[in-house]
Amino acid sequence: MQIAAEFVTSAAGARDFPRERLFELALVGRSNVGKSSLINALARRPLARTSAAPGKTRLANYYRVQRGAQVPFFLVDLPGYGYARGGDASAREFERLTADYFERPGSRGVLLLVDARHPGLESDVEAWAWLASQPCHRGVIGTKVDKLSRAERARHTRDLETLFGPVRLVSARTGEGLDELWRVIAKQMAA
Ligand code: GTP
Ligand code: MG
Repeated sequence: MQIAAEFVTSAAGARDFPRERLFELALVGRSNVGKSSLINALARRPLARTSAAPGKTRLANYYRVQRGAQVPFFLVDLPGYGYARGGDASAREFERLTADYFERPGSRGVLLLVDARHPGLESDVEAWAWLASQPCHRGVIGTKVDKLSRAERARHTRDLETLFGPVRLVSARTGEGLDELWRVIAKQMAA
């Protein structure tokens, strides 16, 4: 299936969000978990900047994505949490931007990305609890599954599902799990 995807804007706060009203799917997760890489894997092109150094994405970056003849939507790359550089000021900045994002009216979903190698990190569990208070669809994606052994896959999936409910495992590197992820996205958009 053809994917049309383009960068739209980088938003530092409420007044920068795009005027166009489309379903928005935000990717949330710790710095370095693979949010920008997953956007590139879904878009099948290097739209979002990725880096081995955490804290690369500091603004809410909007991408307009259309798969085949389906309705277009915005994929939103939110800044990662749990990244110390910048200290308190940067943490407050992150919280303000994230709150602005979720306060805006409109139809939206959110995917919490967690590193499939490290199930149950406190910051991920806290983020999930916070997202539960938001009026949006939510789901959990385990990233970097290519780095797991077969035994770890089974064990970590069990651990993740105990904490979060159904979890899909993906790899931006190999493309594993992306078809299933597209189905999750379609379901959120239709709900
Ligand atoms: P911030 O912008 O800092 O919040 O990080 P991010 O969540 O956008 O992470 P990013 O996509 O930049 O990826 C961080 C690092 O993990 C990079 O070195 C990526 O190459 C690597 N990475 C991301 N996804 C995968 C994956 O599926 N498999 C493997 N093996 N590495 C991955
Ligand atoms: Mg990023």
